[in-house]
Amino acid sequence: MPEEPYKAEPQKAELHQAVLFNESIDALNIKQDGIYIDGTFGRGGHSRAILQRLGDQGRLYAFDKDPEAIAFAETLFHNQNQFYLAHKSFAELLVQAREWDIDGKVDGILLDLGVSSPQLDDAHRGFSFLRDGPLDMRMDVSRGLSAAQWLVKAEQADIATVLKEYGEERYAKRIANAIVKARTEKTIDTTKQLADIVAAAHPAWEKHKHPATRAFQAIRIYINRELDDLKDFLAQSLEVLAPEGRIAVISFHSLEDRIVKQFIQRQCKGDDFPLDLPVTQDQLSQRMKKIGKMIIPTEAEIAQNPRSRSAKLRIAEKL
Ligand SMILES: C[S@@+](CC[C@H](N)C(=O)[O-])C[C@H]1O[C@@H](n2cnc3c(N)ncnc32)[C@H](O)[C@@H]1O
Repeated sequence: MPEEPYKAEPQKAELHQAVLFNESIDALNIKQDGIYIDGTFGRGGHSRAILQRLGDQGRLYAFDKDPEAIAFAETLFHNQNQFYLAHKSFAELLVQAREWDIDGKVDGILLDLGVSSPQLDDAHRGFSFLRDGPLDMRMDVSRGLSAAQWLVKAEQADIATVLKEYGEERYAKRIANAIVKARTEKTIDTTKQLADIVAAAHPAWEKHKHPATRAFQAIRIYINRELDDLKDFLAQSLEVLAPEGRIAVISFHSLEDRIVKQFIQRQCKGDDFPLDLPVTQDQLSQRMKKIGKMIIPTEAEIAQNPRSRSAKLRIAEKL
């Protein structure tokens, strides 16, 4: 157990309801004196569970892009001498691990992707089409363009590409056209404005799904470089992990899951050689092995937390 008690208990309104919680903590196979990274601190649900399993020699390092998550971590783990924090993207994993002098020594890294409940629930963050607020959508509000700033200048074709590629939106062109038309009349700077424009332009509303769901997901992924950050992270993870160190990634949509799945497959398979070339297992340079099958939430978890519906957990271990 950590020496210092936690300074503050989170207030209920600040809590994030973690998904596949026990499964992801078990996935890390935590050793008391191990070194772990929580790449997505959020409100620290996973970090707390990891710290509780560490002995005096164990260490936990955490990342979050969101200044509010960082401020929360600083309060929650104030005086916690086994805990280190970086206000950075996990895409900067390797540089930061070198700074911490833990590259090649890490026993487990967890990513619990997407947005946290406090981010989604706070209308001022602009993530939700259900709550009217400024159209921001940045996880890191200290840098980069907000969704509103991007939509002021973006080319219609670029908007359509984002909607199609990151939202898998069939009517991307039509919606992009409506956005560009609407912005000539009035700047689009609130979530409600954008949700209304998309809803009016969308010709095929899906059952039980707000017509702006895909557009909001797409713009959020683009604004936060979510898929690029994930690819960058995965590429660096091998250098940061110790042998037998693990990655455990919880994703929430098929685009993310595909990236994780394909990365693990490639590392498990090793280098490509022509089929007729006689190569030994060693020469294949396999770098990882898959741990178990993909894990999804139970029906009970989905009933209790509908946000877990699309979650998938994949685990792999460095050889
Ligand atoms: C689903 S929440 C994590 C919740 C956390 N596991 C908990 O138990 O409270 C995702 C968090 O990851 C952060 N995040 C998302 N992408 C990130 C990235 N590329 N780098 C660092 N943090 C990121 C978000 O700001 C958010 O706080």
